[in-house]
Amino acid sequence: MDTKKCVCIGVSGGIAVYKALDIISALRKKDIDVRVIMTEAATKFVTPLPFQSLSQNMVVTDMFAEPKAFEIQHISLAKRADVFLVAPATANIIGKVANGIADDMLSTTIMATKAKVIFAPAMNTNMYENKIVQENIQKLKNLGYEFIEPDSGLLACGDEGKGKLAKPSEIVEKVMEALNNSSLEKDLIGKNVLISAGPTNSSIDPVRFITNRSTGKMGYFLAEEARDRGANVTLVSGPTNLNPPSGIKVINVVTNEEMKNAILDNYDNSDIVIKSAAVADYKIKNYSNKKIKKDDGELVLTFVRDNDILKILGDNKKHQILVGFAAESNDVVENAKKKIVKKNLDFIVANDITSSDTGFASDDNKVIILSKDGKEIYLDKMNKRKVASKIFDTILRKR
Ligand code: CTP
Repeated sequence: MDTKKCVCIGVSGGIAVYKALDIISALRKKDIDVRVIMTEAATKFVTPLPFQSLSQNMVVTDMFAEPKAFEIQHISLAKRADVFLVAPATANIIGKVANGIADDMLSTTIMATKAKVIFAPAMNTNMYENKIVQENIQKLKNLGYEFIEPDSGLLACGDEGKGKLAKPSEIVEKVMEALNNSSLEKDLIGKNVLISAGPTNSSIDPVRFITNRSTGKMGYFLAEEARDRGANVTLVSGPTNLNPPSGIKVINVVTNEEMKNAILDNYDNSDIVIKSAAVADYKIKNYSNKKIKKDDGELVLTFVRDNDILKILGDNKKHQILVGFAAESNDVVENAKKKIVKKNLDFIVANDITSSDTGFASDDNKVIILSKDGKEIYLDKMNKRKVASKIFDTILRKR
């Protein structure tokens, strides 16, 4: 039994086929077992030989070829793969997979695999932007397939626009990330996890609103961590610039009230609820239907209290494990402890928002996880995905 991690690379036909060689080479240098399946069209651009030499494995091109000594059949490859990469991915292979067509080695293997499948599309801009292709991509994303966006630039056909295969280094990075996540223990299978992320907005008039600096990163990483550990995840997100993660039900909201309603709609059905959103505590008292005109004097706005969503959840808690965040600029632990009691939480994740290299907008965070039974876990500064992992470890009493 081979213990090496295995990446199966499906190469479909396009001018970018040769770039897949760089990807194979980089993965081999990381001691990853690389298996290659080429479509017939791909072999018209580059022969299987360099793929075979670099991967040090036979390249599979024909579903009906006699299995050789090393036993390559689509089912065994589908099982062997820890991550499945399709690069370059043509409109054709994307369309086939999106529509359940399995008529060659690559499409049958993708259909049979349980591994994470990542597509790195490369094609002419007009093809890429074609509504049918975009609909197929969206359909696959909703089903949990991942995509690495193509780059923009001058394409082989002479057109300029989006459609160049993403940089091999970027593709390798995404594959490595997926490989690491593929080895996560699936300890949240069967659990419904509800997460809130990002800011909420409160409108002043038709053109103005107030909000806060939250980017939503922490909540999105929590959602991805839960998904990769096997949970059914619902993410209620305020306005952010982040892409909706695949395999997660995302409910987009804008105001405190909308977030409250979306969370309450899903509360009874949830096992673990984590509120990482930066919810506005106040809303404008008198919303103006018309744009407020400037005047010579001062402009005074009056705000009134809005829902404390987490407190509502705490007051109505039944079986759920309820986790809050505490954004503090002073007396971090003391203030966070008060919030555990006030909002009837099981855990709170406290962070000091005055630090410039962690917290809001940063990729890193330095937090303390406090539990209602008085346990305090001080974590070093680490990236937010890692923080997400530690939070679930703590909730599941693994630390
Ligand atoms: N929260 C919420 N609704 C609010 C405010 C906060 O659900 N109106 C949640 C946040 O998502 C977070 C936790 O409550 O999980 C703590 O948020 P934080 O902003 O730190 O605290 P506040 O409750 O607003 O308290 P304070 O303003 O005193 O710091």
